[in-house]
Amino acid sequence: MSNPDRPDSAIALARSPLFSHLGRLDLARLAGELEEKHFVPGQAIVRQGDPPDGFYVIKQGRAAVLAGPTSAPAAGDGTGGETLTTLGPGEVFGEMALLTDSPRTATVVAETDLTVWRLSRTRFDTLLDHERGIARSIERSLSHRLAAMNQETGALRAFSHRLTTAALGRLSPGAARLVANMAVRPRWPAETLRRICARSGDEPALAELVEHSGLLHSEGTDLVVDPTFLAIAGSDVRQANPAWLRATAEELATSGDVVAATDLALAAGAVEDAERLLGAHEARLLESASAGDLDRWLAAVGEQSPALGTRLAGLRTQLSERMAAPAQTAAPGSRERAAPLFGRLARQLATVRALSALAAVIIFWLGWVLPLPEGLGRGGLVALGAIVATVPLLIADVLPDYVVMLFLTLALVLPGLVPPSDILAGFAAPAWNMILTLLAVGVAVARSGLMFRLVLLSLQRLPPRFIPQSVVLCLTGVLMTAGLSSGSTRIALGVPIARGITDAMGFAPRSSGAAAVGLMTFFTFLEMGELFQTGTFTGLVVHNLLPAAAKAQITWWRWFFIALPPFVVIGVVTYLVLLFRFKPHRTGRVNVDAVRLQQALLGPLTRNEIWSAVVLVLLIVGFASLPYHGIAPAWLALAAFLFLFTLGALDQSAFQGGGTLGLLVYCGVILSLGNVFTTLHIDTWLTSLVQSGMPAMVRNPYGFVLTISIIAFVLHFFVPWMTASTIIALVAMPIAEGLGFHPFIPVLVALIAGDHTILPYVNSGYAIVYFASEGELFTHAQARWPLVLESLLRPVALLLSVPVWQLMGLM
Ligand code: CMP
Repeated sequence: MSNPDRPDSAIALARSPLFSHLGRLDLARLAGELEEKHFVPGQAIVRQGDPPDGFYVIKQGRAAVLAGPTSAPAAGDGTGGETLTTLGPGEVFGEMALLTDSPRTATVVAETDLTVWRLSRTRFDTLLDHERGIARSIERSLSHRLAAMNQETGALRAFSHRLTTAALGRLSPGAARLVANMAVRPRWPAETLRRICARSGDEPALAELVEHSGLLHSEGTDLVVDPTFLAIAGSDVRQANPAWLRATAEELATSGDVVAATDLALAAGAVEDAERLLGAHEARLLESASAGDLDRWLAAVGEQSPALGTRLAGLRTQLSERMAAPAQTAAPGSRERAAPLFGRLARQLATVRALSALAAVIIFWLGWVLPLPEGLGRGGLVALGAIVATVPLLIADVLPDYVVMLFLTLALVLPGLVPPSDILAGFAAPAWNMILTLLAVGVAVARSGLMFRLVLLSLQRLPPRFIPQSVVLCLTGVLMTAGLSSGSTRIALGVPIARGITDAMGFAPRSSGAAAVGLMTFFTFLEMGELFQTGTFTGLVVHNLLPAAAKAQITWWRWFFIALPPFVVIGVVTYLVLLFRFKPHRTGRVNVDAVRLQQALLGPLTRNEIWSAVVLVLLIVGFASLPYHGIAPAWLALAAFLFLFTLGALDQSAFQGGGTLGLLVYCGVILSLGNVFTTLHIDTWLTSLVQSGMPAMVRNPYGFVLTISIIAFVLHFFVPWMTASTIIALVAMPIAEGLGFHPFIPVLVALIAGDHTILPYVNSGYAIVYFASEGELFTHAQARWPLVLESLLRPVALLLSVPVWQLMGLM
C-alpha cells in the first residue's frame, strides 16, 4: 500500500523484488549504504569485461542490457551490441559478475535519464550471507534468465546446425574431407599443416577453407577451427580419414608436438602408434601433457589396449605426484610455501594448547603437594591452585571460558573443598539475575530500531556539521551504556549508527572521517562501561563482591559520580585527539536527502519501539532513583524484562544469541568465587601476605592507585577482564580498608585500568566493532595510535582523580 508521505525513492527500494521481504529496519539500514548515482542517456553504467565493483538497483529511469563491450545499441550496419533486455525502476543488475567473481557479462547503458543505487561489493556479499531471502530472490531471477536463454539457445542451435550443414555442402569434396579431419583438434600449427597438406595433395582444399568457409581462421602462427563449428557439427560431418590422421601424427611428432601427435593417433584408432610415441617420448610427454590430456587419452584407449591404459595411468599418477609435491625452487613466501607454513603454525598452536593443559594439571597438583604456608589450610591452597590453573587454559584458549569455569567448579566440589551451595551461589545472586534480564532487554532495544531512529532524528534536526553531530553520537553511546550492560548489544546498535552517520556525511570507507566516527563509536559505546554500575556485567559482578556496608553506600548514582572524574579526562582527551588526528570537521556535512530516505523506509514509530523506549527510560530512572523507592536494580531489570516479554517485544530467541549461555555460566561461577575465598579464608591470607610485603609507596593514595592500575593493566593481557577484576577486588578491598581507603576505590581502579585495548587482541570488543563494520569504518593502522593513547590515558586519568576522591572522603 503506498503512503503519500513516503518519497518515491523509498517506495522504489521497498518494492524492488529483491528487497521487498526485508524488514523496515534492515531496509532503512541498507538504504544508508546505497550510493546514489546519475547517468545521462547513452552513458554506460557497467561495461562487459570490466572487473565488478558493485551491484545496482534502478531508482528512476530505464536501462538497456547490451551484449558486447560497446555501449551503443545494435545498428543495421552491425556495429553496437544486441539489446538483451531493458530494465526499469526497482529492477537490479550487476549481480552476475559479483556472484561468479568474473568480469561483467554484459554492458548496461542508460536509455533515459537514469538514477541508480550502487551497493559496494563487500556489502553485497554480506547481504547475501545474512539474508537468505535476498539470496533466494537472486537465484530465482538468475534461473529465469537461464531458462529464457536455454529456449533461445535451443532455437539458435537448430538454426546454426542448418547453417553449418549448408556451409559444408558448398565446400568442394576435398575441403569437406579436410575440415572433417581437422575437426579432431581445435588448433593447428599453420606451417606444419601446410607441409602435411602439400604432401597429401590437400593444398587447394586448405586454401579454400582459409579463404571462403569461415570454418577456419588464422590466429598468430596457428589455424583455428571455429569453435561453434566444432560444437555444432554432428558426427556425420566428422568422418575423419585415419590414414591422413596417422601421417599427420608422425609429422607433428617430428616437429616436437608430441601431445597433438598422440591425440591424432588415438583419434585414428592407432593404439600401437600411440604406444610407440609414448615409448619414444615419455619424458617429453610428462613435461608437456596436462592431467586433462592424460584423462582424455585414458578415456580414448578404454578397453582397446590394457597395456597402454596401464602405462598412461602410471604417467597420470606421476604427473599428480609432481603437482602435489612442494616446489623445491619456490621463492620464500610464495604460494607453494604458504600451505606448509600454515600447517606448521597450526601444529605449533596445538602444541601450545597441549602444554597449557599440562601446565594447568601441574599447577592444580602443586596445590595438593606443596607445603602449607602459614595462615592457609590445604583446602585453601588447593582451591587457589585450581583458580591459578585456569590461567594457562584461558590464555591458550584451550577451551571456551565458561567450560574452563565449569572445570573449576568440578575441581572445587568433587574433592569436597567447598560445599556445592558455595560455588553455585553466584547463580542465585541478584547480580546474575540482572545479567540475564539486561541481556534480554538489550536484545529488545536492538531489535526495535529505536536507537537508529534517534540518530536519524539527530542527523536531521541538529546542525549538519561534524562537531554537533559527533558530540550527540558520543553522548548517545554514553547514555546507552547506562541502561545496556551488554557490550555486544551496544556494538550491535552502535556500528549501524556509525555507518549511517558516515554515509550521511559523505565519508568514504576508511577515510579519515569514517575512522573518526568509527573510533568515537568504539570508545563511547563500548569503552565507557565502568562509568555506570550497570554499564558492564563485570561491574555488576564486582559490585556484588563489595562488603555489605560498602555495597549499600555505592548506589547507582554514587558509582556514577565516583567514576565521573577519570572518564571526563579520558572522554574529553580522546575526543580531541581523534578530532585533531583525523580532522573530520573539515569535510563532513550531513546529506539530509539520504537521511530522509532512511526515515521514510523506517515508517512511523512502531509499538515495540515505543515500549522499548519507555522501558529503557524507566529502567535508567529506576536505577538512578533507588534511594527513593528502595527496589534493587535486579528486580527492576526483571520487571522490565517481563514487561517486554508480555508485550511481545521479546521472545525465546532473545536468549539464543551466540555467547549468551557461555556468559551466564561464566558469570555464575565468577560471582561465586567471593564465597569460595571467604569459606577457605583465602582472602584474609592473601591480604596479610600482600600487606606484610607492601612497600611504603603503596600506602599513599597515589601509590595505591598506581599499583592497582599497573596490576590490572598487565593482568588484562593474560586473564579475562572479569576474572582479573574479581581477583584484584577480592584481594585489594581488605587492603584498602586497612589503609583507610574506601573498598570501592581499588575495585573501580582495577575495572578502569584493566579495560584497555592497547593491542587489539586484548579486547574482543575491538574485533567485533571492526568486523561488524566489515573494516569499512577504520583500518587497524588508523586505530593503532588512538588505542594506545586511550589505554595509557586510563592510569593517568585515575591518578588525576585522586584529589577529587579525597575531597569526596573516599581516600
Ligand atoms: P554483471 O555480469 O555483473 O554485469 C552486467 C549485468 O547485466 C549482469 O551482471 C546482469 O545483471 C545483467 N545481464 C546480463 N545478461 C543478461 C540477460 N541475458 N538478461 C538480463 N540481464 C542480463
